[in-house]
Amino acid sequence: MSLSVKSNTMEIIIVGGSLAGLLVGLALKRHGHHVHILERNSLPLFQGNGAGIFAGDETRQYMEKFDKCGRNLVIPTMFRHHLDINGNEIYRENGTHYATSWDLLYHILRANFDGIESEYCKLPDQIGAMTHYDYDANVTDMKVDNNGVTIFYEQKNEKKSIQGNILIAADGASSFIRTIVNPNVKREYVGYVVWRGTVPESDISESIALALIGCITFFHAPGIQFASYTIPGKNGTLDRRDRLINWVWYYNYEDPSEILTDCNGRKHRWTVPRDKIQPKIWESLKQYANDHLPPQFIELVNLTRSPFVQAISDVLSSQATYYDGRVVFVGDALAGFRPHTAGATSQAAFHALKLWETMKNWDDWIKNKNSYENIVMEFARHGIQHGQKLGNASQFGHHKFDGTMKMGYLTTPDHMSNSHKDEQQYDN
Ligand SMILES: Cc1cc2nc3c(=O)[nH]c(=O)nc-3n(C[C@H](O)[C@H](O)[C@H](O)COP(=O)(O)OP(=O)(O)OC[C@H]3O[C@@H](n4cnc5c(N)ncnc54)[C@H](O)[C@@H]3O)c2cc1C
Ligand SMILES: *[C@@H]1O[C@H](CO)[C@@H](O)[C@H](O)[C@H]1NC(C)=O
Ligand SMILES: *[C@@H]1O[C@H](CO)[C@@H](O)[C@H](O)[C@H]1NC(C)=O
Ligand SMILES: *[C@@H]1O[C@H](CO)[C@@H](O)[C@H](O)[C@H]1NC(C)=O
Ligand SMILES: *[C@@H]1O[C@H](CO)[C@@H](O)[C@H](O)[C@H]1NC(C)=O
Repeated sequence: MSLSVKSNTMEIIIVGGSLAGLLVGLALKRHGHHVHILERNSLPLFQGNGAGIFAGDETRQYMEKFDKCGRNLVIPTMFRHHLDINGNEIYRENGTHYATSWDLLYHILRANFDGIESEYCKLPDQIGAMTHYDYDANVTDMKVDNNGVTIFYEQKNEKKSIQGNILIAADGASSFIRTIVNPNVKREYVGYVVWRGTVPESDISESIALALIGCITFFHAPGIQFASYTIPGKNGTLDRRDRLINWVWYYNYEDPSEILTDCNGRKHRWTVPRDKIQPKIWESLKQYANDHLPPQFIELVNLTRSPFVQAISDVLSSQATYYDGRVVFVGDALAGFRPHTAGATSQAAFHALKLWETMKNWDDWIKNKNSYENIVMEFARHGIQHGQKLGNASQFGHHKFDGTMKMGYLTTPDHMSNSHKDEQQYDN
């Protein structure tokens, strides 16, 4: 295919149909570009893998601009507080943050991107330009030349290929595209994992609900950080009692290979999905919880039915654009932040907003690609470093319990964003 310079419409291929791929795909579709997402997951819709995420400034700005479903998706938390081992509050600080769930955000984006109906939201009146979301499409190779990009993939044992003007790599922290263009970049385990789970609000006792709802609740001890907050429930419902309490428990393991081996003996590199944790490991973790966590969190862990676990890693690409702007990295494929930053989705939304500004047409992109490169790399380095500082202090340092060490919440450096920022600083 040769690039038509006269047309403003570009053929854009996105590898990876998770949040970053959808955020970028929807924004670029709104310029009238033809967007084709290739996702290797074999189901038409991801199901039940996600849990809580924070909707930072960029995510909320993005949704205001591009989401036409018009439903609320966030639950505000009005303060954060820290508990001691007996469950008493030892520190409190006001400040609003917005929690949502992975599955709700995903379904809203699908409704806007390719008109997929679900229980989560109404379809927008106008879906707009034609887009494709191909699932069960495992990208296996790529070719780039002066005419554009060719992407090779396998779908139901058939080998296929498509061509486009630009390839967007949104294929996550272990990015396959990155291993082709820059095999030197490594994703590295950093010494601890995060156990995660959710409990329906209606399952927890009144007294515990009082301590955990409407806020972010933390507990710290050497080598341990635990946090909880409330997220939307089934089908994205925001109704009280049907919402979920989401919890995360960071825990040090020098060698996580046993934890990452599932109940069928299969070894996972980074994450063991729901319902696949070895029962004996989960039982021993629950036992540990009983002796080492505040009562509110012991109850949460006790009531959790389908926990999952992820090994924490750092990964940072050395560049955001390759082949004179024909290959562009977004989301975790560019930089995989530690979850303490609560910033992965915001970073992906930031990329989508920036590409919307810089990719109106090919000429526009050629003019602007260096500014995209610079600003997203600065954001990425900032996020990686912020996550390392938070993780180092929480897991390997002596955390101060007086709240001066702010956990979480990546903030965009001021000069990159015009919105007001709080919590820019923390003390060590
Ligand atoms: C199912 C799921 C659930 C998640 N749940 C949460 C959560 O609850 N909370 C949270 O904070 N974060 C969650 N995340 C991570 C979160 O989505 C990301 O950290 C962030 O939003 C940026 O995501 P991303 O789209 O860049 O990367 P990812 O979400 O990792 O998505 C990468 C996508 O690329 C696809 N892919 C990879 N290689 C290929 C290939 N060769 N061909 C085709 N497709 C490929 C993968 O299947 C995946 O869908 C989840 C991710 C997934 C996939
Ligand atoms: C995708 O293809 C790679 C080889 O290129 C293979 O290792 C991997 O298992 C495939 N994944 C899926 C989900 O088919
Ligand atoms: C969610 O959607 C399913 C499928 O339509 C429906 O059966 C169920 O009642 C809904 N659940 C809630 C809590 O709304
Ligand atoms: C959690 O479960 C254990 C047994 O597995 C029990 O001893 C303990 O009392 C329970 N704690 C709470 C808070 O429910
Ligand atoms: C975090 O700790 C690691 C290992 O000790 C160190 O290499 C890294 O520089 C630290 N990062 C920050 C930002 O403190």
